[in-house]
Amino acid sequence: MTDFLLVTDLDQTLIGDDRALITLNEILEENRQQKEIKLVYSTGRSLELYGQLNQEKHLLSPDALITSVGTEIYFHPIKDNFDLQWANNVSENWDQEAVFSVASHFADLVLQPLSEQTPFKVSYYLSEKIAQEVIPRLKADLAREKLETQVIYSASYALDILPKKGGKGSALQYLRKQWKIAANKTVVCGDSGNDITLFKGEERGIIVGNAKSELLQWYDQHKTPFRYLAKQHCARGILEGLNYFGFITT
Ligand code: GLC
Ligand code: MG
Repeated sequence: MTDFLLVTDLDQTLIGDDRALITLNEILEENRQQKEIKLVYSTGRSLELYGQLNQEKHLLSPDALITSVGTEIYFHPIKDNFDLQWANNVSENWDQEAVFSVASHFADLVLQPLSEQTPFKVSYYLSEKIAQEVIPRLKADLAREKLETQVIYSASYALDILPKKGGKGSALQYLRKQWKIAANKTVVCGDSGNDITLFKGEERGIIVGNAKSELLQWYDQHKTPFRYLAKQHCARGILEGLNYFGFITT
């Protein structure tokens, strides 16, 4: 039986402080000798950009990888284990061409690199100064075209348009169901807007101390005893939270 499931975002959550990452990895490896710990990375990156990060940093190999903001899932061994069932679920009512066509009328949206335009995700750069004005108009235009989407703004620069059924939160729930792991044995960690859906259930939540304003604001409005705002940054914040919830003791 799994002792706990750790689901963590990568950029500016697990990654961001190399020494802290090494310490956390060592502690997890040590704990894994006595406990069954399932590890999932949940990232906004495409599989391609995850591959780059994996070459640059020392990452433990995860039991599953959620990429492109919860629109794709890969099981261990990642290379050839794309989850088709999840893709089928996410693809429902998704019309990527139509989404591109609506978004193309917004001069302020700057297309991200092609690697980040994956089958169920369309991504732009959008400046923070105009985001609050542009996002409602974009949402209204998508709705007018009857496109059922989610618009997610992260870290004051990235705007993703996803199918209604995608997102980090629903991907996590899907994995939890498959593995039959209870919410109170699951801990989720994040730092920015695309992580908010991870925190919407009753899983234990760790918001790292360096979290971005959109997540901090959401946390302030949705306080519960099972969400913890760490004082420390990145992997050190994760460690602080794992201790706080008693998943590990260091
Ligand atoms: C990652 C992705 C990018 C996305 C951002 C926020 O940086 O590469 O496409 O917009 O996360 O979700
Ligand atoms: Mg992040």
